[in-house]
Amino acid sequence: MKVDRRRLELTLEELSRIGETPRGGLTRLALSDDDRRARDRVVAWMRATGLAVRVDRMGNIFGERPGTEPLPPVMVGSHLDSVPTGGRYDGQLGVLCALEAIRALDDHGVRTRHPITLVVFTNEEGARFQPAELASGVLAGRIPLEDAYNARDKDGVRLVDELERIGYLGPEPCAARPMRAYLELHIEQGPLLEEGGYSVGVVEGIVAISWSRVTIRGTQDHAGPTPMRTRHDALVAAADVVAGVRRLARDIVGGDMVATVGQLSVAPNIVNAIPGTVTLSVDVRDPSDAALDRALPMLERVVRQACEREGVRWELEHYWRVPYTPFDPLVVDTIERAARAAGARHRRLRSGAGHDAQYMATLGPAGMIFVPSRGGRSHCEEEFTPMDDIECGAATLLLAAAELARAE
Ligand code: GLV
Ligand code: MN
Ligand code: MN
Repeated sequence: MKVDRRRLELTLEELSRIGETPRGGLTRLALSDDDRRARDRVVAWMRATGLAVRVDRMGNIFGERPGTEPLPPVMVGSHLDSVPTGGRYDGQLGVLCALEAIRALDDHGVRTRHPITLVVFTNEEGARFQPAELASGVLAGRIPLEDAYNARDKDGVRLVDELERIGYLGPEPCAARPMRAYLELHIEQGPLLEEGGYSVGVVEGIVAISWSRVTIRGTQDHAGPTPMRTRHDALVAAADVVAGVRRLARDIVGGDMVATVGQLSVAPNIVNAIPGTVTLSVDVRDPSDAALDRALPMLERVVRQACEREGVRWELEHYWRVPYTPFDPLVVDTIERAARAAGARHRRLRSGAGHDAQYMATLGPAGMIFVPSRGGRSHCEEEFTPMDDIECGAATLLLAAAELARAE
């Protein structure tokens, strides 16, 4: 069985025009008009492929290809939202390779005993509404539906209102159903596959992730008449926190930990006022949950010391945590066999990025297939994966899904 490389390439090109940026990337924030357009396009392709489409209360989209027996489905998919000025592979590639795998089964007249369900998850990125993987989190029962509905973007717009506005507040309960397995193809977003000349990564697990919010309150005042000795500048304390977060990952804990301040908001954010309030995000990841447990009190110390030095008040909230997620050994083995059968040069690796597969792995056997990222880059417009590798990845996905769904 083979995938149709040309069809996959054309489908990817067509979808990439929705939310396209001038430099060849993608800005398609969750539940924006472009997200709606991309969803509508994919739903139309699903229907044209004969899939029975349903949408749940979190806007997750499911398209089912029936099996020959009433068995739980093999679920295959990813997400369509992107980060601002992101790339055209993170997320949508997994959706389109899943669609291509189903189209290829049809081409070959292959029936499977288990149904195969294509799934598109809402708000995977966490760029517009926090946390990330919000809708798979609700599906897995790890995030209350009400909390997800009440998530607000930076302009105060509620997630549920946007779901309704774009027509994807579906009727189906957002709740787990039995599944045979969950498979997700994704770009690696790191350098290992490209460096080693591999086309396919067989993912063994995903690092533990923690997201925190720091709010620093100083004293807003005039930038001119206020002497340096009397200032309590929230941004100066925040700058100290940013440097401390980097030290924390590099020197204090060591090993494979990474820590990032990616978001900073400064008020009143004008030239001639001492910043009164700053909020900043802290993203910390490590393969070891124990290392993450050790890092969070250290983060608290970094924040306290920085704020005491500047004489400002602070709050620290750890609002999202996903533990290290090992994938199901049998699914991992199945993917490895599929990669071999597809003739793909492959290796095992671990994901440093978060994915909906983390929550899906709490519901049943799950696994992921990676394809290389040029220069290891992602969450940027330069994101790129060669078509040769995409073809190998899609073929691996096809063969693994067919085996798990028991092709006849
Ligand atoms: C999702 O892209 C994440 O790893 O944060
Ligand atoms: Mn992604
Ligand atoms: Mn991403």
